[in-house]
Amino acid sequence: MCDTEHRHEHGPFGFLVDTPEIRALIAETERLTTAMPDAAARVEALKPAFGKLLAAEGWLPDDCSRADEKSRMGGGIGQYALYRADAGSLCLFSLVVPAGAATPVHDHLAWGLVGVYRGRQDETVYRRLDDGHDPAHADLEIAKRQTLERGDFYALLPPTDDIHYVKTISEAASISIHLLANDTACVWRHRFEPESGTVTPFRSGYANAPCPPEAQAATDR
Ligand SMILES: [Fe+2]
Repeated sequence: MCDTEHRHEHGPFGFLVDTPEIRALIAETERLTTAMPDAAARVEALKPAFGKLLAAEGWLPDDCSRADEKSRMGGGIGQYALYRADAGSLCLFSLVVPAGAATPVHDHLAWGLVGVYRGRQDETVYRRLDDGHDPAHADLEIAKRQTLERGDFYALLPPTDDIHYVKTISEAASISIHLLANDTACVWRHRFEPESGTVTPFRSGYANAPCPPEAQAATDR
């Protein structure tokens, strides 16, 4: 499951954590992806199923709920794959952000839903002011800030509100659950430094599952 020592027993794709709650959400996502071509309408229709998973207890293993000292994001932040579609078209993962830690400013490049399962987070969302022609530079300004309590969730519909960072403001680590229409930790995304405008390629990686070999080769360049 989430223990990296045992990942090969479960394989890096499919249901890395196999529970009825996770299967129900993935089945509903697949059904709506086929039935609803419009991403905004599909995400809206998925909210009840996503909220149900966030409200349920007992389905997230302890070893997907702990800090990761080898984190590529720093701060002990752990990203654990719970479900990954073979084709890289969908994933579900937990993100553990220790108390006081913050993610880098980053994008996601896919539609989805993100919600808080444990603890509290502050989210800061950025608006991009430039036209994106320079891959190494972005002019960003803060678009909004919000505090997210347990059970709160929000939609991602890039490019709107796709650049953000989150910080844990609870005394214990926060855990957020992410349902996204890519293989988020293995795709090349971007991290941003809003003050300097610097943009760098970013791939976060899962703590409990490898990325595909072709993507792995790209990290070695
Ligand atoms: Fe994010």
